[in-house]
Amino acid sequence: MTADAEIQTILPALASGNVAVITGGASGIGLAAARRLAALGMKIVLADIGGARLDEAGRVIAAIGGAVLAVPTDVSKADDVDRLAEKAFGAFGGVSLLMNNAGVGDNPGKPWENRDAWKRLLDINFWGVVHGVEAFAPRMLAAGKPGLIINTGSKQGITTPPGNLAYNVSKSGVKTFTEGLAHALRNEPGAHLSAHLLIPGFTYTGLTEGATQKPAGAWTGEQVIDFMLASLMRGDFYILCPDNEATRPMDEKRMAWAIGDVIENRPALSRWHPDHKDAFAAFMKR
Ligand SMILES: NC(=O)c1ccc[n+]([C@@H]2O[C@H](COP(=O)([O-])OP(=O)(O)OC[C@H]3O[C@@H](n4cnc5c(N)ncnc54)[C@H](O)[C@@H]3O)[C@@H](O)[C@H]2O)c1
Repeated sequence: MTADAEIQTILPALASGNVAVITGGASGIGLAAARRLAALGMKIVLADIGGARLDEAGRVIAAIGGAVLAVPTDVSKADDVDRLAEKAFGAFGGVSLLMNNAGVGDNPGKPWENRDAWKRLLDINFWGVVHGVEAFAPRMLAAGKPGLIINTGSKQGITTPPGNLAYNVSKSGVKTFTEGLAHALRNEPGAHLSAHLLIPGFTYTGLTEGATQKPAGAWTGEQVIDFMLASLMRGDFYILCPDNEATRPMDEKRMAWAIGDVIENRPALSRWHPDHKDAFAAFMKR
């Protein structure tokens, strides 16, 4: 773990007393971020669907010391996220880190099935991020102070493996939106606000349901956040986390193969196509 003073020298947005707003902050990667940022002395605004888990997360963060505000919020609803911003700015006067991290992994099924479930997933995973940026970015920009917006994407939004198409669509959207956000922010005159895409690997959280113990291949939320802080200190936009199974070279090859489908005019998702299986395996071994 990098020393706090070094982190805060390189990343002034994370100064003690500054404010971090984290959606999906009651569990998993979001809660791990809240704990680490609270330990840096930041004030924490936890936004998550209300209930016992959010209350408990508020107590966990309060026990670390410093101020915490737990705000029941459904990120799929723009009004809820606007209200979250009112409460955060009202209570603390400024926000220097926004982590749009809330997400769900329920599988609505085939492309032609369950329109309402598809819309619900996109409303949370994609529109939740947009709502966060709309509600916070203008005021963060107007403050003129160093700030960070971190949106949580997924490798599934880049290599789009068969399994949960709606999730892949939502995370592809988060990737594209965040790339455009980074471009827009760096073209805002005088802005000290930057955007970053957090791309966790397999992480043991509430989302990776079913396991009662951390699977050997998974990272913990704490590992993801330590990696995120180290990446931010390097100024990385793409925070591409490995895990205990997928190394960075493996991820690089999988991503190169995916874009190679377009360049080489292969069938869609050729990695999982019987005619291309062997070629993909040979590519990975190279
Ligand atoms: N765990 C992994 O392996 C993994 C891998 C890649 C990406 N991610 C992404 O990381 C992010 C965090 O997920 P996690 O793994 O920590 O899972 P998690 O289930 O532990 O945490 C997600 C949190 O989001 C909250 N949430 C869900 N719907 C919400 C809504 N409408 N409004 C507000 N909050 C809502 C949940 O209540 C939960 O507390 C998600 O965006 C997820 O897609 C996770």
